Amino acid sequence: MKGWALVTGASSGIGRQIAIDLAKEGYASILLARRESALIELKKEILDTYGISSLVLPLDLSAVGSVDEIVRLIKSEDIVLSILINNAGFGDHNAFEDADIAKLISMIDLNCTKLVELTHAMIPLMLKNSYIMNVASLAGFMPGPLMSVYYATKAFVLSFSQALHTELLPLNISSSALCPGPVHTEFGQVAVTGDLAAFNSISAQNVEEVSALALKQMFKRKQIILTHPTHRFVVFLLRLAPRKVVGPIVYKAQSKRLAKKSH
Ligand SMILES: NC(=O)c1ccc[n+]([C@@H]2O[C@H](COP(=O)([O-])OP(=O)(O)OC[C@H]3O[C@@H](n4cnc5c(N)ncnc54)[C@H](OP(=O)(O)O)[C@@H]3O)[C@@H](O)[C@H]2O)c1
Repeated sequence: MKGWALVTGASSGIGRQIAIDLAKEGYASILLARRESALIELKKEILDTYGISSLVLPLDLSAVGSVDEIVRLIKSEDIVLSILINNAGFGDHNAFEDADIAKLISMIDLNCTKLVELTHAMIPLMLKNSYIMNVASLAGFMPGPLMSVYYATKAFVLSFSQALHTELLPLNISSSALCPGPVHTEFGQVAVTGDLAAFNSISAQNVEEVSALALKQMFKRKQIILTHPTHRFVVFLLRLAPRKVVGPIVYKAQSKRLAKKSH
């Protein structure tokens, strides 16, 4: 075995696939999410396929004291981490004034606050030649009307991740921001609570493709990981376009999705 990884949000979607692909590379993972049964199933799949034994950590990251619990487990198992994957997160697709404010606040807490708290607690428990990958989004590059808070959380993750990359150079710990566009996962169900097809467009990528590319780039210590060639062009255009122009374009695209949701 090459080392240990901590993967948050490992019960489904991108995090689940990353844990599988890390096992393929010889890394054992601490699998963290709320749904214990999904984590136990994943642990068995990884053991049967790659002969690697994972640790299951059923935990609500949003709960008070969750990070302390993770630290306790890592110390009690005498683990030194080689990889931290900050992946757990969710979105909400709604007009801001119609949104449930408690949901928005808990989104900021999980997507930003817990990510920062966990990273701060994990760095002293990591090897001096290791990797952090923070799952941001293509959404982090632009303002996102009708998903305003979600886009803003991802802008936070992107900025934080890049700053950390520079700060951690002396420790030889890289910090990569993974910035996928739409991916076929349970994300749409959570964000939309309605018509999943309206959210998962045909241009959505599959998790296998995203995870394989993400890990390849993470091991090359890339600061920003884009998952599709067209995204490079989008990011290039976004750097040139004034944000006051971008907002209305995103608003139009998100309005169409909301309209589909309400039909
Ligand atoms: N899918 C996309 O289109 C897309 C695009 C760009 C970025 N992303 C980002 O990718 C990341 C993963 O999302 P996904 O698309 O793979 O969606 P997903 O299938 O819904 O996965 C989200 C994961 O986060 C976990 N999670 C949620 N709340 C949690 C909590 N309070 N404590 C612990 N774990 C929690 C979920 O597990 P439990 O429910 O079992 O806790 C699940 O394993 C997110 O940060 C998302 O913003 C997604």
